[in-house]
Amino acid sequence: MKNLLVTGGCGFIGTNFIRYLLEESDFSGRIINVDKITYAGNPENLSDIAERFPERYRFVKADICDREKMARVFDEYEIDAICHFAAESHVDRSIVGPDAFIQTNVIGTFNLLELARERQPRIELFHHISTDEVFGSLGADGLFTEETPYRPNSPYAASKAASDHFVRAYHKTYGLPVTISNCSNNYGPYQFPEKLIPLMILNALEGKPLPVYGDGLNVRDWLYVRDHCVAIWEIMKRGRRGETYNIGGNGEKTNLEVVRMICDFVDEMVPPESGKSRRELITFVKDRPGHDRRYAIDFRKIQRELGWQPEESFETGLRKTIRWYLEHREWVDRVRSGEYLEWIRTHYGDE
Ligand code: NAD
Ligand code: DAU
Repeated sequence: MKNLLVTGGCGFIGTNFIRYLLEESDFSGRIINVDKITYAGNPENLSDIAERFPERYRFVKADICDREKMARVFDEYEIDAICHFAAESHVDRSIVGPDAFIQTNVIGTFNLLELARERQPRIELFHHISTDEVFGSLGADGLFTEETPYRPNSPYAASKAASDHFVRAYHKTYGLPVTISNCSNNYGPYQFPEKLIPLMILNALEGKPLPVYGDGLNVRDWLYVRDHCVAIWEIMKRGRRGETYNIGGNGEKTNLEVVRMICDFVDEMVPPESGKSRRELITFVKDRPGHDRRYAIDFRKIQRELGWQPEESFETGLRKTIRWYLEHREWVDRVRSGEYLEWIRTHYGDE
């Protein structure tokens, strides 16, 4: 893997992954980060990386749905491996407007697969980043395994399921060397503050209501983002081609437990001026339509085959994450205001 195409590298997990590969891992090649820069992408996340690794990191502003532009990227940079993060990722947005999800998650993935197929045998690996949401919802017991049937419930999950099927089909039909990972909820630095954890941290700090959907008893399996990045790299290096791997955090919590922990840690780190606990800001609001009740991952396959398991506990990971948001208020202001979009126009033009 000399010339690795990372799509969506300016988003939350992509940013953390590129940082991990260049700063910590044994990857020795070059990364070409292609990102369209939607509201969720910010190339400033990696501006220090661009300076520190001028020979090993390139950013290209492009839409993965633009097949001609992507073909030029594949050829100009002699791409020989792909790690595909780019997606519309927020379930609530997919309920309000599913179109962009079909475009990027389904058509965009299909374009990349076609470009990779046409360049066989140069492509060593197409790694596809997916989600546990493709499996639908669990009851009180049980875990999602790699054998669990797909039953996506939101337009987001349906679009990711469709893309997973195409990736698998390109392996079975055309022999494209692929791997797929289905991961649970990530949290950590650089997550756009529309997702539960950063939204609650920032609202708690700002004394705003903490909107908990429904009864707050929906369960998610939280994974610190660096643990996810380590798992992806292990799969890319040593995962069996054509296989899927589930990645989870051993971190099952109800949303209410998560929000209460955030309130308590924020109270500890920044004692409230009013003297009142941030827990008083918790507000129950209307439920998300089709809200999946519980996700939980059985990650024994990746543990057994690749020796991976999460290192971070939810408590330590959450403390690190709150500290990061406290120390990066400028980043928060910029992504909220969309100010960096102006920076992007100056550097890369409107297209
Ligand atoms: P994100 O929304 O933070 O980032 C997505 C990135 O993709 C952004 O930089 C955006 O600009 C870019 N992008 C969107 N459309 C594009 C297009 N058409 N062309 C090029 N770039 C485009 O998402 P994330 O949370 O970092 O998720 C990354 C991947 O991981 C997604 O595929 C998501 O489905 C998957 N995933 C996320 C989680 C999670 O908890 N966040 C868990 C499991 C899987
Ligand atoms: O499971 C993996 C998935 O996790 C990823 O594939 C998605 O890209 C990612 O966005 C995430 O999806 P969720 O819908 O689980 O994450 P979100 O942070 O939006 O919500 C987490 C839980 O918190 C969910 O049960 C809904 C609830 N919630 C969310 C928000 C934003 C609230 O109660 N209040 C809120 O304001």
